[in-house]
Amino acid sequence: MAILEIVKHPAPILQQKCEEVVKFDKELGQLLDDMYETMVAADGVGLAAPQVGKAVRVAIVDMGEGQDVIEMVNPVVTAIGGSEIEVEGCLSFPGLYGEVERPYFVRVEAQERDGSLYEIEAEDYEARAILHEIDHLNGILFDSKIIRVVDPSEFEEEILDDEEGEVL
Ligand code: CO
Repeated sequence: MAILEIVKHPAPILQQKCEEVVKFDKELGQLLDDMYETMVAADGVGLAAPQVGKAVRVAIVDMGEGQDVIEMVNPVVTAIGGSEIEVEGCLSFPGLYGEVERPYFVRVEAQERDGSLYEIEAEDYEARAILHEIDHLNGILFDSKIIRVVDPSEFEEEILDDEEGEVL
């Protein structure tokens, strides 16, 4: 495994639509392993392949305490519901935090690293993280969705949810 360099904004690869994965080979497994190590080292809770310089439809999300990190290959959003405004950050935008409105609920169909299909449902911050990463695969960056920039000191001082301001 290896810790990869995280691509920072502005970079063209962050704004392009990523390619479908067609080969479920060792190289894909290696990319997922490296992305996991990179996300952990960067203290993030989600990471998309373009953020490590690979324009392919691959992303991972840490589903929180006691939960697995999910690997999403070729993810497709099949349902959304509700709406919530929370603070987000992004590993490709060091120091930038802002309020973003996203669905409260999401259902996604994706493939595992071996190509098998699965479906996952998530709510709240996990849904937010999944949708943030899928946006990356379409070249959509969270800064374009920020409705209010938040100074980090603002959420450090307030008593807020632990997940507030996590970087994706
Ligand atoms: Co991000």
